[in-house]
Amino acid sequence: MRNDATPRVSTPRRYLMCPPTHFQVTYSINPWMDPAKPVDLRLAMTQWEDLYERYRALGHTVDLLDPRPDLPDMVYAANGATVVDGRVLGARFAYPERSAEAEAHLEWFRGHGYTEIHEPSHVNEGEGDFAVTGSWILAGRGFRSSPLSHDEAQEFFGRPVIGLDLIDPRYYHLDTALCVLDGDEVMYYPGAFSPGSRAVLKRLFPDAVIAAAADAAALGMNAVSDGLHVLLPQAALGLFEPLRERGFEPVGIDLGELLKGGGSVKCCTLELRG
Ligand code: ARG
Repeated sequence: MRNDATPRVSTPRRYLMCPPTHFQVTYSINPWMDPAKPVDLRLAMTQWEDLYERYRALGHTVDLLDPRPDLPDMVYAANGATVVDGRVLGARFAYPERSAEAEAHLEWFRGHGYTEIHEPSHVNEGEGDFAVTGSWILAGRGFRSSPLSHDEAQEFFGRPVIGLDLIDPRYYHLDTALCVLDGDEVMYYPGAFSPGSRAVLKRLFPDAVIAAAADAAALGMNAVSDGLHVLLPQAALGLFEPLRERGFEPVGIDLGELLKGGGSVKCCTLELRG
């Protein structure tokens, strides 16, 4: 619970999304993906459009990336870059199935007036593993992004990068285990992190919302906050009350079809900061 009564405010954001026009689960690079399970593409599109419309109804700007037929995971736009202060750190994917997404993102940024663009030397999966707080950049490692990408991000952005070790394959990206709510306020699922990283999180965020296993398993951490509204998977029921107690307005979203690829709200949303 907050000890001050300052109301939360939503600040207008700019997001980049990519419609799931060619979404499929044809390969498996995380434990959520089962190519034997059918995907209802029309339903995926309806669910995705609902998220898109919610952002716009909340006053946010959403830019769109052109989906490519050979890149079924492109709907998870958060992985394609990290943007802070208008500076773009490109991605470099861990698996060849997704590697061409990095160039598609770079092309979009070059075509939209971004001039400070860094093409990375080390594997990083964009905002999948980089979470920007008021004071730091939290950076996941263990499954996808290389630990070396953390120094690369720190040097490029000039912000302190704090490395966190992910240990549970279901939570293979940092954004499946932790969400920045506002400034230096976060929510996270401790079970996804090594004991040392858990201690670091406790030290940095003593008042964090701590997620239970069931809410994490509904990908409840894969949420997007605008400072007031927290858009999150609707099945993560246990998070709604703790968020309300802290003055946030939880908004439940159903992205059930996209869960089959191992992603939800945050994975579909790249924030264009500054
Ligand atoms: N199928 C994609 C992968 O495994 C899902 C990416 C989810 N994105 C995210 N930001 N966690 O790479």
